[in-house]
Amino acid sequence: MNIIVVGGGGREHAIIKKLKENKSIEKIYALPGNAGMAQDAELVAIGAKDIDAIVKFATDNKIDFAVVAPDDPLVLGCVDALEAVGVPCFGPNKAAAIIEGSKVFSKNLMKKYGIPTATYEVFTDAASALEYIKTAPIPTVIKADGLALGKGVVIAMTREEAVDAIKAAMEDKVFGESGSSIVVEEFLEGPEVSVLSFTDGNVVVPMVSSMDHKRALDNDEGLNTGGMGTIAPNPYYTDAVAKECMEKIFLPTVNAMNTEGRSFKGCLYFGLMITKDGPKVIEYNCRFGDPETQVVLPLLECDLLSVMKACRDGNLTEDMIKIKNASACCVVMASKGYPGKYETGFEITFPAKEDNKDIYVAGAKFSDGKVVTGGGRVLGVTAIGDTLEDAIKEAYAYSDKVSFENAYRRSDIGKRALAALK
Ligand code: AMP
Ligand code: GLY
Repeated sequence: MNIIVVGGGGREHAIIKKLKENKSIEKIYALPGNAGMAQDAELVAIGAKDIDAIVKFATDNKIDFAVVAPDDPLVLGCVDALEAVGVPCFGPNKAAAIIEGSKVFSKNLMKKYGIPTATYEVFTDAASALEYIKTAPIPTVIKADGLALGKGVVIAMTREEAVDAIKAAMEDKVFGESGSSIVVEEFLEGPEVSVLSFTDGNVVVPMVSSMDHKRALDNDEGLNTGGMGTIAPNPYYTDAVAKECMEKIFLPTVNAMNTEGRSFKGCLYFGLMITKDGPKVIEYNCRFGDPETQVVLPLLECDLLSVMKACRDGNLTEDMIKIKNASACCVVMASKGYPGKYETGFEITFPAKEDNKDIYVAGAKFSDGKVVTGGGRVLGVTAIGDTLEDAIKEAYAYSDKVSFENAYRRSDIGKRALAALK
């Protein structure tokens, strides 16, 4: 078996390491991957959005299976293009990836099918949005319709902030065409839970729940980032909440997509908020989350390739998915200054491999044959433990053994989850 994994971050590194447990796989190519994963996959200098080049590479190299991990290629139709030349893929086609590609689509879907989410209005011109905001309840949440590198959401605590956000998206076009339409929605409160699930378009099987830490600084302060760390399972996702989510959110979403003629196959990510009125959908992602994947996949005890194939072939069953009865924590080590300005090019020193610990590299490049820092988020250090407390302790201890200049990490990943357990 020869496989390609499209994408180049920590999530893709975690997918590649999990796939490698299957010994029938001869070769994994990462397109483009990064220098930090060169020992686990062959790096191919093709960008994740260069669909023509991806298709050509897959055909030329007789690829047997493709995993398309990031949102951009999925929304652009990478799976459709690969399948059209006979390469089976894990990931939704373009018609289904719209569940993440358009917030207007996903909000309208939830409304039409009675799936719990924040109430909202859609606007396609700035004047109407600005008129609406004069009397809208505050705080409010402004979301650009399309993909915006995770930056398209503004929580406006004042009316002025809401006005600024609308003008930025619709008049100044800071997110380009992604902001031509916007969603203005109700501000929800409660703990957030991420649930990544496998689905073949009919059966939906959640993996272990997780909690992201999106802000740059301790105590959830500072700017929003791509994610500074994760833990799993998420203590707020109790059995009762899980049952309610399956009945009111997961199955209705998969069924709704079928009814719309947009059957979703792949990893469907539910970003949930557990409000006092029950769980509500904050967002859907059409893919594995980053850095959620770095705690969820290490806790998966079954063969990832078989599950991915079953999702694609439409024969997924619940008993295929086995989850370790343990906890995991991933501490992200970033370049100091991220998500603002930062320097790169510092040599990374990796510790020897230890049991139940792993490092997933997100931003690294080669320089004079050495692996050096090459991005804002450089890598994630994951540890598995019998308890969440152990996992956190071990992840921090292992991350102490990684070194590069200007390294920055939060010191409180999992702290809130631990408090919730007590
Ligand atoms: P998203 O890009 O949709 O994940 O939004 C980014 C973050 O904004 C989420 O993880 C939440 O923390 C927050 N957020 C999004 N929508 C809402 C909402 N309706 N109420 C409160 N917070 C929200
Ligand atoms: N961690 C959130 C995401 O992958 O979008």
